Amino acid sequence: MCGIVGYVGQRSALDVVMGGLRRLEYRGYDSGGVALVGDGTILSAKKAGKLKNLDAELAIHPLPLSHTGIGHTRWATHGAPNDVNAHPHLDAASRVAVVHNGIIENFASLRAELEASGHELLSETDTEVVAHLLHDELERTPDLSDAVRAVCRRLEGAFTLVICDAAQPDVVVGARRNSPLVVGRGDGENFLGSDVAAFIEYTRNAVELGQDQVVTITPDEIVVTDFFGQPADTNEYHVDWDVSAAEKGGYEWFMLKEIAEQPRAVADTLLGRHSIDGHLQLDEMRLSDDELRDVDKVIIVAAGTSYYAGMTAKYAIEHWTRIHCEVELASEFRYRDPILDRSTLVVTISQSGETMDTLMAIRYARQQRARVLSICNTNGSTIPRESDAVIYTHAGPEVAVASTKGFLAQVVACYLLALYMAQVKGVKYGDEIASLIAELEKTPAGIQRMLDEGDQVRKLAAQLAGSRSILFLGRHVGYPVALEGALKLKELAYIHAEGFAAGELKHGPIALIEEGVPVFIVVPPKARDQLQEKIVSNIQEIRARGARTIVLAEDGDMDVVPFADHLIRLPKVPTLLQPLVATVPLQIFACELASQLGHDVDQPRNLAKSVTVE
Ligand code: F6R
Repeated sequence: MCGIVGYVGQRSALDVVMGGLRRLEYRGYDSGGVALVGDGTILSAKKAGKLKNLDAELAIHPLPLSHTGIGHTRWATHGAPNDVNAHPHLDAASRVAVVHNGIIENFASLRAELEASGHELLSETDTEVVAHLLHDELERTPDLSDAVRAVCRRLEGAFTLVICDAAQPDVVVGARRNSPLVVGRGDGENFLGSDVAAFIEYTRNAVELGQDQVVTITPDEIVVTDFFGQPADTNEYHVDWDVSAAEKGGYEWFMLKEIAEQPRAVADTLLGRHSIDGHLQLDEMRLSDDELRDVDKVIIVAAGTSYYAGMTAKYAIEHWTRIHCEVELASEFRYRDPILDRSTLVVTISQSGETMDTLMAIRYARQQRARVLSICNTNGSTIPRESDAVIYTHAGPEVAVASTKGFLAQVVACYLLALYMAQVKGVKYGDEIASLIAELEKTPAGIQRMLDEGDQVRKLAAQLAGSRSILFLGRHVGYPVALEGALKLKELAYIHAEGFAAGELKHGPIALIEEGVPVFIVVPPKARDQLQEKIVSNIQEIRARGARTIVLAEDGDMDVVPFADHLIRLPKVPTLLQPLVATVPLQIFACELASQLGHDVDQPRNLAKSVTVE
């Protein structure tokens, strides 16, 4: 939530900062702003709404050339999304400018203290107090880094701060506690960003910052300390994707591009993790086989779409490993006093690696002595750094706010974990694992087929664009697929959508069925016990009550044909792998329907990609 950029070097800071903000806009788009170090003063511009409003403002009131600057794209927490509350915030003398991501929990008392000593604060934000505290601190401590450290020691809550000072033209200082910030190491220039997308155009060398650290960048130096000025250890890494991955590449929306990238995301997540005989090797795992053998319970913790990946994974983990598995919403987990011990493996799933609810769940689980393994798509992010072990998904950067390729890659990574645990526990052996891996390796082709057949879904979206409500039903792993289909539609098209376990229908939701209401039904493969027959009965029940049925069923399933108003064929895959193909048409449907309604598919209202507040 909120995107932050800082730059110091030889280029136009405004160009670098605006370019970085454009690539971070998915993190929040309530307002945008920049501040540059001018001749003895800070020059700034800020505007409510998307960055195009800031662009327009800068076209009318251009800022002079500067080589040091900071910028911000906001997802509002304290204060309405208007021009005054937009970042950067300046002190009264326009000496320092501050951008912030997070929530400063003790801002009310700090504000009262500042006002009592004569400061006049202009905005309703928690951030503005930092600018005023820095103003006072810089009168006592002229060095910006020292002043930032002193102020950080007084702040409570979660914050990433990036600051520039008109009195120190070649310096930008950043600080982080519980919110993301990475450093980009350039040649004669250095960068700060909420994530590497901010500076990927200029450098792929990044430095990870730890908790409670302050970083000072000048064109030639990066200095990292703790909040007391002690030198701190950092981790430097090379980003394995380039700027083209963070650009639309000819697609109308990032989401369309990311949907299309799913065969590759799945293939890359599987790549290099097994030998021909099926022996799995998870190099970045960091937990020993002995530690995994000790595990007697798995609790998956995640939010939103990642939670649905976890729901899907539960079926595979219990089926393949015979280890008890629970799935929990990250925002609920630590408040219900869960039973955890050294034999519990908490598996967190997060595309961004920054979701605050999930991060807090990790900290809680580790305090209770549980081991934590994270499944994550973002190298260098906080969640894998604070976990005992990690399995990275290799989906590449996900820019559209609605997760697509991230989800499929998460499901695959969870399945790899399940198979690995089954291997370690001796529940599954080489041949069996090899054949399951071989099935997984066929799924990119199945996903590609769903993409190639996307036109029928797009036509359907055009027909259903006027619907007031759309329902989704599934059984077994089709149930999380139904929930995911509904979530995609809600967040993108802003229409009522709900997912149900088909078996629950008669326990209440069937009352929602009326003439013409569209219902998607994910039908399990026929081979699966009696599930397919049961769902065929459910389809008949809702059709008899007037529902318009959109049935997703595997090739050759003729039982559904008489009851399907629309039939979307899925390739034949083992039941557990069906979500990897069945989710794709639901993503395309939501994206197309939102587009038909004229919505911004990549940046739906009220949302942000990376939810770094609880
Ligand atoms: C929905 C969506 C969100 C995220 C959720 C968790 O399309 O993207 O529901 O899945 O906010 O985010 P991560 O996976 O980054 O922890």
